[in-house]
Amino acid sequence: MTDPSAEGLAVRPKSATGDRDPLVRISGVIREYKMGPETVRALDSLDLEIDAGELLAVVGVSGSGKSTLLQLLGGLDTPSSGRVEVAGDDLSTTDLTDYRRRRVGIIFQSFHLVPSFTALENVMLALTFQGRTGRDRKDAARAALARVGLAERMHHRPGQLSGGEQQRVAIARATVHHPPLILADEPTGNLDRDSAESVLTLLEELRSEGSTLVMVTHDEASARRHATRIVRLAAGRVETEEHLANGGVA
Ligand SMILES: Nc1ncnc2c1ncn2[C@@H]1O[C@H](COP(=O)(O)OP(=O)(O)OP(=O)(O)O)[C@@H](O)[C@H]1O
Ligand SMILES: [Mg+2]
Repeated sequence: MTDPSAEGLAVRPKSATGDRDPLVRISGVIREYKMGPETVRALDSLDLEIDAGELLAVVGVSGSGKSTLLQLLGGLDTPSSGRVEVAGDDLSTTDLTDYRRRRVGIIFQSFHLVPSFTALENVMLALTFQGRTGRDRKDAARAALARVGLAERMHHRPGQLSGGEQQRVAIARATVHHPPLILADEPTGNLDRDSAESVLTLLEELRSEGSTLVMVTHDEASARRHATRIVRLAAGRVETEEHLANGGVA
């Protein structure tokens, strides 16, 4: 093999934990919202790389752009300028409906479950339009619920479950299709401390099984116990980042 430096490979920017290509590469992303005569710049030339296998916690004061960042990663929004790449695909030229169905799972603070559906039906919903049989969808949903410890609660509706259990249903729904990237916006924001801890432990398990997670949180102390890296946003940019020893990747 030729000397890599001769081909310029030695100067290729390294990703956070090695020299593999990152799973996510955000380059120069600006997201502006026009509000009448005013323009709000939620993300301001943001650069961020995320490696496969990270549990990245994103912190920062209210309005620093955390949710905006997650919406872009989730294919729910598009940047005003700049580029978001996931697994080498530029999202601006990717079918975002297909991306959302197959390649990403999103968990919200307020669970977003359908109240009239059982836990099982809520999880099965995530597999609609995937060309799978009803039987196959049910089996996959059952397995995802068992995975989050809710095998005994499959036929309960959200109103018949605790907050922590509802969030675990939402995690089962977000992960039933085994997306490589899992996004969570304040997943423990509505939970008591014990439920929050069990949700974070579950997210950490998903990471150790090979998923990559990006979690927005106000709870920095918990993030420190579970995340592999903490990135702090300020005014739509990365202000600081810190690698942590959790998960053995720092
Ligand atoms: N749809 C929108 N229209 C106009 N401005 C918006 C919109 N969404 C977000 N913003 C503005 O963009 C900035 C970043 O918002 P964002 O929701 O990303 O913040 P955040 O860090 O998630 O805050 P919080 O911790 O309160 O959830 C804020 O100033 C916000 O007011
Ligand atoms: Mg937010």
